[in-house]
Amino acid sequence: MTIVPVDLGIRSYDIRIEDGLLDRAMEVLGPFLGRGRMIVVTDETVARLQFPRLKTAADEAGVTVLPVVLPAGEATKSWNQLEMLTDQLLELGVERGDHIVALGGGVIGDLTGFAAAIVKRGCGFVQIPTTLLAQVDSSVGGKTAINSRAGKNLVGAFHQPGFVLIDPSVLDTLPPRELRAGYAEIVKYGLIDDRDFFGWCEDHGAELLGGDRAAQTEAIRHSVAAKARIVGEDETERSGRRALLNLGHTFGHALEAETGFSDALLHGEAVAAGICLAFRYSARRGLCTDADADRVAAHFADTGLPHGLASAGVGADGARLVAHMSHDKKMEGGTLPFLLARGIGETFLARDVDLDDVAAFLDAAD
Ligand SMILES: NC(=O)c1ccc[n+]([C@@H]2O[C@H](COP(=O)([O-])OP(=O)(O)OC[C@H]3O[C@@H](n4cnc5c(N)ncnc54)[C@H](O)[C@@H]3O)[C@@H](O)[C@H]2O)c1
Ligand SMILES: [Zn+2]
Repeated sequence: MTIVPVDLGIRSYDIRIEDGLLDRAMEVLGPFLGRGRMIVVTDETVARLQFPRLKTAADEAGVTVLPVVLPAGEATKSWNQLEMLTDQLLELGVERGDHIVALGGGVIGDLTGFAAAIVKRGCGFVQIPTTLLAQVDSSVGGKTAINSRAGKNLVGAFHQPGFVLIDPSVLDTLPPRELRAGYAEIVKYGLIDDRDFFGWCEDHGAELLGGDRAAQTEAIRHSVAAKARIVGEDETERSGRRALLNLGHTFGHALEAETGFSDALLHGEAVAAGICLAFRYSARRGLCTDADADRVAAHFADTGLPHGLASAGVGADGARLVAHMSHDKKMEGGTLPFLLARGIGETFLARDVDLDDVAAFLDAAD
């Protein structure tokens, strides 16, 4: 078993990664349950495909499972579902010392984490992420949120899990497109500050996406260690360090907004295209070489991910795309910080980006 610690003082916790761990979950979850019962929040798809494994493990350990099953999909991160979930948790008699188990992708993790942050003024929760994206990104770091009319993730709280359990074998039931989308966030860690890891992705990305368990496990371990390190340095995104994790996300957000946050473009797909645009724009400003921007785009193209506007299915309309960016929550005093790169593994936060220049760049981008 691989254990990656997240070092956050009294909020520290461990991430455990092992193939087949879901079937032995009670060995590690035991200390978090306490009262011989376990509230599990999941979605309808995961309830069908992976929840039975956790239920069997609980039955064998004599632990009563109280499942809460929500609809699958981004629309579940809503006020409406939050209200239903908190009502159900209170009906089930949740106590502050309990740990609610979030079994699912980023949607279930974000919603359950937020419910745990506010119910009884804060109770514990445990993440068992079942998508690659949730395993390498959303389950670690304590950002929880729902979407509101004004935009995605605009209502939420920092609330760290007590524990993260990662079983790569759950990826066997994940649709290939979701696997690829999660892979984009893995590549992101290499591009932020770890050039060698980007090289590893170039060498092993195809194996990972083909289902190779060793490659998947190694990428998950490397990614959560990177995320744990960055979150440990800047838990609530104040110093700018944690903001590095948003590489490709400002451009990506505009693409998601343009496609209506629909299945036309998954979050990870938008991030892949957004990262390529961030590198292209960095090259335009003379910060990195065209060769680096080409190399990044080539890797996303090779792995079947979008690598620019056209492959993301979005038109080159700079004014529209920049308008979407301006509605992003990361605006600071009227300017928008951008993550740009001086090369592969050399991402930095730029605060001097002129949105008109970005619009002109996007008008001519492909
Ligand atoms: N909190 C954070 O730091 C953070 C970071 C990144 C993303 N996010 C959020 O995460 C969300 C996206 O997460 P996601 O991509 O996991 O989406 P998701 O939770 O909607 O899961 C994607 C789809 O896969 C299905 N699924 C999940 N596990 C499965 C499995 N093992 N087998 C088969 N199907 C499975 C789900 O039912 C769903 O239909 C977004 O809302 C985003 O804002 C949060
Ligand atoms: Zn992301």
